[in-house]
Amino acid sequence: MASLGDYSHLASGKVRDLYEVDEETLLLVASDRISAYDHVLATPIPDKGRVLTAMSVFWFELLGGPDVATPPIAHHLIAARDERIPDEVRGRALLVRRLEMIPVECVARGYLAGSGTADYRRDGAICGVPLPDGLTEASVLPTPIFTPATKAAQGEHDENVSFEVVAETVGRDLAGALRDQTLAVYARGAAYAASRGLILADTKLEFGRSPDGALVLGDEVLTPDSSRFWPAEGYAPGAVQPSFDKQYVREWLTSPASGWDRHSGEAPPPLPDEVVEATRARYIEAYTRLTGREWPPAM
Ligand SMILES: Nc1ncnc2c1ncn2[C@@H]1O[C@H](COP(=O)(O)OP(=O)(O)O)[C@@H](O)[C@H]1O
Ligand SMILES: [Mg+2]
Repeated sequence: MASLGDYSHLASGKVRDLYEVDEETLLLVASDRISAYDHVLATPIPDKGRVLTAMSVFWFELLGGPDVATPPIAHHLIAARDERIPDEVRGRALLVRRLEMIPVECVARGYLAGSGTADYRRDGAICGVPLPDGLTEASVLPTPIFTPATKAAQGEHDENVSFEVVAETVGRDLAGALRDQTLAVYARGAAYAASRGLILADTKLEFGRSPDGALVLGDEVLTPDSSRFWPAEGYAPGAVQPSFDKQYVREWLTSPASGWDRHSGEAPPPLPDEVVEATRARYIEAYTRLTGREWPPAM
């Protein structure tokens, strides 16, 4: 039986831990950690790692399969059930192809939200992509757009950049390929989500290169941590839409009840049980609504 101790620990991000299985293979372990406002919170959300892992597996399988509009998307998933996955992390670990990650947060947006809304109000554009006048919070965009960001160091905020900045950083051909692949994933994800009564407002992807130089989709994909999903029922532009993510956490943290000032630079306080439970339920609901499968999945 494999155990985590067999593998060398390569890195830990805000939410996930990366281990080396062999030269070509990594173990990507999703924890129950949750981040908000660029802080990793002291209180974990039970089952979050399993939800995000199961959802990523669902999407990798869907994206890697045939589709009428776009060719299959190459991705890094090898297996979610495998004897090389230690029991202690089963269900929240993926065996993946080791990639050389490209340092660009590849964001696609079909709707106005979050930093997109802020940029639009300031510039009438997002990442240099001009948008028509008269859009409001949660408006649908005329067409989905690629709005890349630079990956910030831990504790710092990703920064939106123009396509030109990406082209200067990684080269024009690769920048173009990142844009095309990002929009292809978004198109497929949004079409599937719509069939489940959900709007995929935006999503953030990470790509890497395999040893043969191919562009491969890595990281997690189309989860509530990386994407905004809104119930199509009740969608009403003009206000922030309810979403299947950390909304309860963010609302509580910025409410008087938390006693926390997000601009203080101090660590946020622990979450109360009811916020933990509501957030856990929301993640599970995202999984069951999207996949049509029962929770918990057999893994
Ligand atoms: N196939 C892969 N090969 C190498 N690194 C990967 C691969 N897939 C994901 N990663 C990296 O694993 C890390 C995942 O940890 P995460 O907690 O999401 O980090 P972050 O706080 O940077 O978002 C990221 O740094 C991501 O770039
Ligand atoms: Mg990440």
